[in-house]
Amino acid sequence: MIKQKCRSCKSKLKEIINLGKQPLGNAFLKKKDFEKEYFYKLNVVFCNNCKLIQLENQPDPKKMFHKNYAFFSSTSNNMKLHFKKFADLLIKKQNLKKDSFVIEIGSNDGIMLSNFKNKKINHLGIEPSANVAKVAIKKKINTTINFYDSKLAIKIKNTHGLADIIYSANVICHIPKVDQLFKNIKYNLKKKGLFVFEDPYFGDVFKKNSFDQFYDEHVFLFTVTSVKNICKKFGLELINVSKQNTHGGSMRYFIAHKGSYDLKKKVSTYLNVEKKLGINNFKKLKQFKKNIDQNKQKFNSLLMSLKNKGKHVVGYAATSKSTTVLNYFNTDPNLIKYISDTTPIKINKFSPGKHIKILDYSFFKKNYPDYAILFAWNHQNEIIKKEKKFKENGGRWILFIPKVKILK
Ligand code: TMP
Repeated sequence: MIKQKCRSCKSKLKEIINLGKQPLGNAFLKKKDFEKEYFYKLNVVFCNNCKLIQLENQPDPKKMFHKNYAFFSSTSNNMKLHFKKFADLLIKKQNLKKDSFVIEIGSNDGIMLSNFKNKKINHLGIEPSANVAKVAIKKKINTTINFYDSKLAIKIKNTHGLADIIYSANVICHIPKVDQLFKNIKYNLKKKGLFVFEDPYFGDVFKKNSFDQFYDEHVFLFTVTSVKNICKKFGLELINVSKQNTHGGSMRYFIAHKGSYDLKKKVSTYLNVEKKLGINNFKKLKQFKKNIDQNKQKFNSLLMSLKNKGKHVVGYAATSKSTTVLNYFNTDPNLIKYISDTTPIKINKFSPGKHIKILDYSFFKKNYPDYAILFAWNHQNEIIKKEKKFKENGGRWILFIPKVKILK
């Protein structure tokens, strides 16, 4: 019995896949903290009314976005380029000037806003995780360490006026009070303003079996259909969408006050694509669970057979996504020697739930294993290119998205 009602339309929810007891995806921990590790129930559910895919339970946001938040956006060069390209496009298309006003919700270390700051365009970053926000503040990017709630929305309007652009990347899917959020956006947006957000797209998750996009932080995985339905409730309109390759497949949504812009054809095209794909249809969604469970069996037996052959297997990149994979697959931690990662705050800690040691990337470079599981599969091309030497040394990649396989 699912107690939670749809966070947007309050209808009953149905279970798609129960991913069991999970720790927080980003809660890399020290040995002394094993005993008090926090777990919650990760259940992916679907609203048959507004088609919104969401988690049944989400831990308290204060447990996830705090002064020790482990994710720094600017660690990826590809992402830096991605944001610069889009900031330039927004400046051009929306004719942004120095006295325009750009808000970013979840501005992290300022990776996007730095592009506006460099052009002296008024901006404000909203970032609740103090450690990443302080990196942005050091770079002189205007940032408030806060959650975006109605109190802050009022304060922003009173002190800065209305926004030409409200932007957000990989953040809106984190915010459980989605209706309140859209209400605040409506309140903070200029008449001809644009609210643009991009998030991992459930269409890709479904096609690629990338169930690891579900972890505590991602309370929603949006679709064009569900975003359109939410907008409607608040006098907003989904006017355009644009598919992105980031984070294993994302969608960028362009939202405006109703009637203020012409609608682009791409919106209806994607609505039809989603109908055909079956992601608005509960029966078809159940196939998703079957595919994941097949991968679970294959993944664990592959690792077991490699261990029996005396092969060294490690994980590559201690992603939050890998937490969902290892805990749902219930993989024996003895089958993975360590996980290599480049983020200093994670090094020498242990992976959430399965307690696999995280070692610095330099160790991987000096001691190539026989096999590396590509946990950062969303950066596959960049990583495989970068790790030519690993392959030349006889190393092989293990993939599990969309299916478990050893890369030829
Ligand atoms: P995320 O998928 O949860 O955003 O985490 C990405 C993690 O992957 C981050 O800790 C850095 C790590 N990483 C590497 O170690 N090597 C790489 O080449 C890339 C792209 C990421």
